[in-house]
Amino acid sequence: MSVRIREFRRGDEPALREVFSSAIHGTASADYTREQIDAWAPEAVDREDWARRMREIKPFVAEEGGRIVGYADVQGDGYIDHFYVAATVARRGVGSALMRQIHATATARGATGLYSHVSITARPFFEKWGFHVEAEQRPSVRGVSMTNFRMRKSLLQPS
Ligand SMILES: CC(C)(COP(=O)(O)OP(=O)(O)OC[C@H]1O[C@@H](n2cnc3c(N)ncnc32)[C@H](O)[C@@H]1OP(=O)(O)O)[C@@H](O)C(=O)NCCC(=O)NCCS
Repeated sequence: MSVRIREFRRGDEPALREVFSSAIHGTASADYTREQIDAWAPEAVDREDWARRMREIKPFVAEEGGRIVGYADVQGDGYIDHFYVAATVARRGVGSALMRQIHATATARGATGLYSHVSITARPFFEKWGFHVEAEQRPSVRGVSMTNFRMRKSLLQPS
């Protein structure tokens, strides 16, 4: 089944939360403890807060057969805030389709680079796409310490 990438639409918010939860509880759970996973993606969600967040970051949405299976955003300065693919479709190229869109968008906007705070789980994926680790970090998420990496990629062509 082929993946289609489209812009965020109002009404997508609950499906994006499902993807977020699936990616963390179903995929990232291989690299983080139960306590860390529950702090990152708690079951109790303030729907309005979540919806507002999604409308702010306006992610690209990946659909397969009309079903939302992933989403990822890129901000004007090249910052990638969210990048999530449902565990049910992992390793089938959905993340790469989103990453291609992010590169095209950032390049068209004239961004000089891309950067993100990347999970242990997503690090090999970002490395495959040419990002490198600038720093290992230990942010506290709802009072729980988690490891992630500040990763960056230049979009400037070497002259
Ligand atoms: C990271 C993530 C978005 C990747 O999405 P995906 O759709 O599975 O990625 P793709 O199928 O396009 O993978 C492309 C390539 O990246 C690399 N890759 C992806 N996931 C990998 C993993 N877990 N381990 C090693 N390499 C990986 C592989 O080279 C893969 O190619 P291959 O499958 O032919 O070997 C997804 O695993 C995810 O949502 N993870 C959990 C949530 C998370 O940590 N999000 C990031 C927050 S910063």
